[in-house]
Amino acid sequence: MVGGDAHPTESDHVPATGRADVAVVGGGPIGLAIAWLASVRGMRVRVHDPAPGSGASGVAAGMLSPVAEASFGEEALTRLLLDSAARWPDFAAEVANAAGLTGIAELGYRTEGTLVIGRTADDLAEARRLWAYQQGLGLPITALDATGLHDREPLLAPRVRGGAHAPDDHQVDPRRLVTALRIAAVRAGVVFVPAAVHDLADLDADTVVVAAGCGAAGLTGLPIRPVKGQILRLRAPGGEPPGFRHVIRGYNDGRSVYLVPRLDGEVVVGATVEERGDTTVTAGGVLELLRAAIDLVPELAEYELAETTAGHRPGTPDNAPVIGRLADRPDVIVATGHYRHGILLTPVTAQLVVDLLTSGVADPALAPFTPDRFTRTGQTSVREEIR
Ligand code: GLY
Repeated sequence: MVGGDAHPTESDHVPATGRADVAVVGGGPIGLAIAWLASVRGMRVRVHDPAPGSGASGVAAGMLSPVAEASFGEEALTRLLLDSAARWPDFAAEVANAAGLTGIAELGYRTEGTLVIGRTADDLAEARRLWAYQQGLGLPITALDATGLHDREPLLAPRVRGGAHAPDDHQVDPRRLVTALRIAAVRAGVVFVPAAVHDLADLDADTVVVAAGCGAAGLTGLPIRPVKGQILRLRAPGGEPPGFRHVIRGYNDGRSVYLVPRLDGEVVVGATVEERGDTTVTAGGVLELLRAAIDLVPELAEYELAETTAGHRPGTPDNAPVIGRLADRPDVIVATGHYRHGILLTPVTAQLVVDLLTSGVADPALAPFTPDRFTRTGQTSVREEIR
């Protein structure tokens, strides 16, 4: 099995010399996947990161939920989420194969779907408003009454009023994914440079791909801001799998929480959403998450509180990612700003960026996500000039 703390056994810190075809800044899943796929297509690729996988992906829960995460007014983003979700099973199989794993289960890939639940009448009304919108888009999500919910997950609190099932939403373990992608990248010939990049001009490459999450702001001037998320990891007694199988997205006294059960006994409980740049885990954050989790699944009170962490989602002004060439720097491609969806959007981002690297032409699917929709620090946006 690829454990969360495992590292590639191959030499991945080869000294970097000579001009590369592609320098990828950022060794999270998106940067690693771009590097791996570009190298498979014959490019000479370097990844620059002092600690690959130590950013948002080390904190993330790994929900692949294009349906349950489809939000009002984000139709273009929802289309991209669905596109990427459809690519995930093949992508996972390719990563697993390239990393020498026995299959996608070793990445923590699970397909039981998401249950959306509301505990009080008000919570249910809020959840229902959202899934009615999702159904209106034609997305697969089906309402369940309290009996239907408890039939699927008997451990849910008796007071849970009702909910819905999104059967096509999946999950993956981001830490296992990063480890596997590092192995795949090394095997494909990617060279890792374990150092931070402070200026893109320092990189000796034909094309630079900035996949540095929040770090992209300082490197490109794009308006990427940190959105703090505190998240917990619980552990079921005796190392048994948790007593529930679905990802649970719950609404509890006006607060939203998600519970992601893993076969190795872990339950990820997330996450706060805070407009802050620190990574302090606070008593209030832990209390808020635990209260909601235990109100919805009382058995969780018996689980070990194994880990508390906080990370930064790279947020953008319109909550959508930024993928494409910089208008005034055609040698720089950005792939960042994935906000709440970095893991889900990994396959589509990586594949479309590598297509762009290969063909020089941006796929039309990227049109809503171009960097030039934003003004960069020290720049005038192309769209403002046109107006
Ligand atoms: N995708 C879940 C989160 O950002 O908390």
